[in-house]
Amino acid sequence: MTKPLTKDDYRPDDVTVHRDPARLNRVIRALRNAGRNVALVPTMGALHAGHRQLIREAQVMQNTVVVVSIFVNPLQFGPNEDLAKYPRQFESDVDICRAERAGIVFAPSVEDMYPEGAQVTVHPGPLGDELEGAVRPGHFEGVLTVVSKLFNIVQPTYAVFGQKDYQQLQLIHKMARDLNFPLDVVGVPTVREHDGLALSSRNAYLTPEQRQHAVTLSAALTAGAHVSSQGADAVLKAAHDVLAQTPEIEVDYLELRGVDLGPAPENGDARLLVAARVGSTRLIDNIAVLLGESDEKGE
Ligand code: PAJ
Repeated sequence: MTKPLTKDDYRPDDVTVHRDPARLNRVIRALRNAGRNVALVPTMGALHAGHRQLIREAQVMQNTVVVVSIFVNPLQFGPNEDLAKYPRQFESDVDICRAERAGIVFAPSVEDMYPEGAQVTVHPGPLGDELEGAVRPGHFEGVLTVVSKLFNIVQPTYAVFGQKDYQQLQLIHKMARDLNFPLDVVGVPTVREHDGLALSSRNAYLTPEQRQHAVTLSAALTAGAHVSSQGADAVLKAAHDVLAQTPEIEVDYLELRGVDLGPAPENGDARLLVAARVGSTRLIDNIAVLLGESDEKGE
């Protein structure tokens, strides 16, 4: 039997912080029994305007309680990646969630999420080994495992993710379909700085000089998208030319793919994706491209 809600469990005028997965799950079931929808916004914290936008989009859904999860997931970091130095700023993250009128922050411990002996993981399939997965082996297995655990704990009606991490978004769409999660996955366009740089918690690692170099990623994507009516080769050449102007950045990949990350079509909707290192900081970005169709309407 689900216990009735107390005022400590959920106060619509403030954010409630939950650390215990079992307790949160009870609260959520009570909210759903009371007819509320639940929207989940999974994050690793260090919240910025991109995350804020996801919380806002989650609120657009009627009659919805927004749950923001904050969990730096060790399973998705490789042995030489930035797990230890990943920015952690829990108190100000909770302030941001409160300001954005999220109802619940879920911040579990590593021990509660991965108790000793936990061994079962979610395998992403072949797409998990491409693009980001080729450079970060095991990354998407870690992402899909934690996201499926969050889906089971929070049982959301909607789960909101950014297009900034486009391959992650596609894999989560696939996982929800292939594993029958009863929820809608919502993708939100990338929030950018004024000069085009995609907001990312990792931008905090950049020196002022590196910050200037970093804008090359979005500039290259935009240059590619501008010549999309001329076809795939023109798009890739225009983007490569821009990247080559900044030798300080080391490109991991620049690829044109279909919107589902299969092969790019000759004509129609596609996605241009880039990953590069600026110093020791790895940045990714992507943009929608309409290939081979002239834009007579001036769009
Ligand atoms: P994190 O990098 O904290 O991102 C959380 C969510 O915010 C993701 O859905 C990401 O795509 C979105 N996001 C990040 N920057 C954005 C921007 N500039 N504009 C719009 N959305 C943006 O992605 C993760 O965490 C983790 O892999 C996670 C899904 C939480 C699993 O651990």
